[in-house]
Amino acid sequence: MKIMVINGPNLNMLGIREPDVYGKSTYADLENFVTECCAQQGVECSIFQSNSEGDIVTQIQSCYGTYDAIVINPAAYTHTSVAILDALKAVALPTVEVHLSEVSQREEFRHFSYVSLYACKVITGKGFDGYKEAIEYLVSTNN
Ligand code: DQA
Repeated sequence: MKIMVINGPNLNMLGIREPDVYGKSTYADLENFVTECCAQQGVECSIFQSNSEGDIVTQIQSCYGTYDAIVINPAAYTHTSVAILDALKAVALPTVEVHLSEVSQREEFRHFSYVSLYACKVITGKGFDGYKEAIEYLVSTNN
């Protein structure tokens, strides 16, 4: 099984960015964590991060016919991007949406997610462990 893990804008700033909200671990720590989770589950994974909406759309499109599932933290684009929603619907792969923070307990504008209109599962507020849960879920439902 091959899983594509996609992270949106400002997640490359983990460790520096609002540590009270996102913790002190860095983006490199997250990459290592995800790589380890995939190895434990015996799945191949690629990890992609971009601050650009178009690059995220292109990366989702590139999964068509090449990956079995997607884990995505669209970051701020969660709340704004019809283009990312449409790309996910276009490739029609099982997709889990992950957020490090508990978005429902934060500002009102973070309560709505376009991506949730497509995702088969949404995991929020569990930090890095949310990615682990997403990978385990996709492995357990892959047939
Ligand atoms: C986030 C939550 C978003 O609202 C925010 O814009 C982010 C990160 C999270 O992982 O908690 O950049 O997706």
